[in-house]
Amino acid sequence: MSGRVLITGASSGLGRQLALTYRQAGWQVWGCGRDGERLQALAHEGITPLQFDARDSAAMAEVAAGLPALDLLILNAGSCEYMDLAQGFDGALFARVIETNLVATGHALAAFLPRLASGSRLAIVGSAVSWLPLPRAEAYGASKAALDYLAATLRLDLQGAGIGVTLIRPGFVQTPLTAKNDFPMPCLVTVEQASRAIMSGLAAGRHQIHFPRRFIWLLRLLGALPTGLWLRLGRILISKGSPS
Ligand SMILES: NC(=O)c1ccc[n+]([C@@H]2O[C@H](COP(=O)([O-])OP(=O)(O)OC[C@H]3O[C@@H](n4cnc5c(N)ncnc54)[C@H](OP(=O)(O)O)[C@@H]3O)[C@@H](O)[C@H]2O)c1
Repeated sequence: MSGRVLITGASSGLGRQLALTYRQAGWQVWGCGRDGERLQALAHEGITPLQFDARDSAAMAEVAAGLPALDLLILNAGSCEYMDLAQGFDGALFARVIETNLVATGHALAAFLPRLASGSRLAIVGSAVSWLPLPRAEAYGASKAALDYLAATLRLDLQGAGIGVTLIRPGFVQTPLTAKNDFPMPCLVTVEQASRAIMSGLAAGRHQIHFPRRFIWLLRLLGALPTGLWLRLGRILISKGSPS
């Protein structure tokens, strides 16, 4: 199967790998990001680069106006910053992460949803973090948990229009985003493994795609523990200096 796909956050990491693999599979690909140089490298691979800041709703609307109908829209752009509550609750960090991960997703929906017709699919990249409250993830976790709800409610409201909605919840993937992490990342997968899991899940029309399986089961199990027990375990995690 091939078609037209637009991917936000395609200049790096997971989005870049998805853009390259869809292109290799014969899709027409639009890859979005801010970094001109990395977008140019994508253009050399036959991907049409679209440069804008996802927090800029007007810029996105302008770009969307020039696009044809899409078969697949993958809203993947995002950032991660951890909070250090010993320094107080960092309101500016919180606003930054929510703006990039959540508010910008709203701007993207306003701009690009009109490009999706019956039979097409919208995919939103959340995170496995929303299965379990993890230390220092106040901003990142809240932004991704909000995306879970957003995807679920869009799934209900878009079914009448024949548009499928997939929520993608990766565990740890080896990308520039996780390269900054200074804590152990269990079950870390490569971008190639992640993009294979995502592409096969999307081709199968799954409502949710989550991987790697062992890590997801662990998070779900821990997430089902009574709060008191998780608090005690969380204390141990924090004493070892680790978040998500
Ligand atoms: N890596 C993981 O372990 C993991 C796990 C779960 C979920 N995720 C999610 O997967 C997605 C991709 O993450 P990644 O690990 O591939 O990170 P990454 O390598 O840092 O890539 C992030 C991408 O998002 C784009 N982006 C960020 N802020 C933007 C903005 N304001 N406007 C436009 N584009 C923006 C970046 O573009 P520019 O650099 O060009 O600005 C880049 O292409 C994120 O939503 C992340 O939360 C990742």
